[in-house]
Parts: sequence; structure tokens; C-alpha cells
Amino acid sequence: MNATDTSHLSKVTPPRLLAIKTRQEKITALTAYDYPLARILDEAGIDVLLVGDSLGMSRLGYPSTIPVTLEEILIHLQAVRRAVRRALLVADMPYGSYHVSSKQALKNAFRLVKEGGAEAVKVEGGSKRFKLVNRLVDAEIPVMGHIGLTPQSIHVLGGYKVQGKTPDSARNILDDAQQLQEAGAFAVVLEGIPRGLAMEITRLISIPTIGIGAGVGCDGQILVADDLLGISFLPKPKFVRQYVDLKEIISGAVARYREDCLDGSFPSEAESYQPEGNLTVKAFTRKV
Ligand code: KIV
Repeated sequence: MNATDTSHLSKVTPPRLLAIKTRQEKITALTAYDYPLARILDEAGIDVLLVGDSLGMSRLGYPSTIPVTLEEILIHLQAVRRAVRRALLVADMPYGSYHVSSKQALKNAFRLVKEGGAEAVKVEGGSKRFKLVNRLVDAEIPVMGHIGLTPQSIHVLGGYKVQGKTPDSARNILDDAQQLQEAGAFAVVLEGIPRGLAMEITRLISIPTIGIGAGVGCDGQILVADDLLGISFLPKPKFVRQYVDLKEIISGAVARYREDCLDGSFPSEAESYQPEGNLTVKAFTRKV
């Protein structure tokens, strides 16, 4: 990037992500669930912000992403929407919100776009979502796919297990990626697959791949922001790089606040309001 290049400041759109892939540059993506963090991430230049259903585990204390509802995604999406200026804002379609029929999926995707301000939606699953992705794209809703380890399928997969380790499974995942591209998806998340497979998928499809636990060969990377910031109570997966221990920092700050309250050093005079002039207790207490 040269000194006059301001492309890093302009609005990120699905075609721009494709252009980033074409230029062989990298796409950065993170989850966001609330206004302050979304604003920090957007201002830091992250390209894609995902209101992911990981919200359920990271922030709502659910044991998996399965219980997350459309209403919960909507509330967090609206908060993130108010913060985001530059990043592409993607909303996860939670489990059950797109599985009944195309009509149901379209209705819920419209809500995410119209009420929540999403610029794209993400659905889990590959070739079996071909028709659905096609319908959504037909309705002018950009779709991000998500294949490999799909957390909404944990009951079928038998847990959070790396996918694509056998030749058959790897072939199926490549087929999923190609089907999603064919159906009109603008990008695909590759989660929990061997790095060689992710690299090969990235080479063979023309839409951007965004990896999480899929190695360095993807067109971009996504992490749950809470994991990299160290504000999670969940076990840390192997692929997470934690850049700061916010849990530790917050605990320290709260312990100091508690001590200051207990020993009377908070609030100080400077942290208290003063009356105008010489206001005595007598002046504002009523006579009885
Ligand atoms: O919900 C989520 O946060 C996700 C990302 C991890 C890709 O789907």
C-alpha cells in the first residue's frame, strides 16, 4: 500500500473481498456482538465483522450454538450495526432459522437485513444448502458459506472434531466449497480442517476462503474476538492466538475498585459533586 492509497479506509463489500483475493492480499475477520467492541474492531480496520452464533457460547453462557435464537442475533446485530462504518457486516443465521423451508429462511434472512442492518448472512453446510443459497442470492442477499467443522451439526458430527482428515471426507468438503460457489455464495468459511485441504480449496475456487483452524493458506482468517482478547471461559482451541488476557486485566481492575470502596478511598472529593455557593444542610432540609 502506498501513501496515497486509501482503499483500506473505504467500505468493504463482497466484490471488494473478491478483489482482495485477486490481488493475493489477506482478508481479516472477527466476531462482534456489541457496540463498543464492534466500534474498536471496525476502527482498527478489520474487513469483516460477523455477529456469529458463537455469541451463545461466548456471551450468553449456552453449552453450544444450538439454542441461539434469531431474536438474540437480531439484538446483538442491531448494536453492532450502530457501531460499524467500514467493515462488511455479516449475520449468522442461527440453528433452526433456515432448516424448515426456503420460505422460512428467506423470511428470517430478510429480518436480519431489514431490522438488523446485516449486509450478508452466513449459513452452515455445503452442497445440501445449494438451493437455499441460490434463493437467498436471488433475493439480493449476499451469502457466506461455512463448511468443515460446522458447530450447528455437533450432534451429528459427535463433537467439535477436525473434519476432512480422510480422502473421502476431504473430497466432500471440496465439493461443498465448489457447490457453494456455484450457488452464488460470495465467500466461504473453512472451519477445523487440515491446512493442506484448506490451501487446495482456496486454490481451486475463485471466491475467498476465510479460515478458522484451517491454516495459513486461506484468503483470510476469522477468530472469535473474545478468544484473541482473552475474555472467554471456554477451553482455548489449538488454533487460537490469544493477544491479551483481558479477563486477568478486568479482574485486577475490579479487585482494586472493591478495595477502594471498602477502605473509603473511592469516591474522592474530585469524584463527588459540590454545591453551588455555600449550600448548608439547613438550606435544603424541610422543616418538620
Ligand atoms: O459463530 C461464529 O463465531 C462463527 C465463526 C467462528 C466463523 O461461525
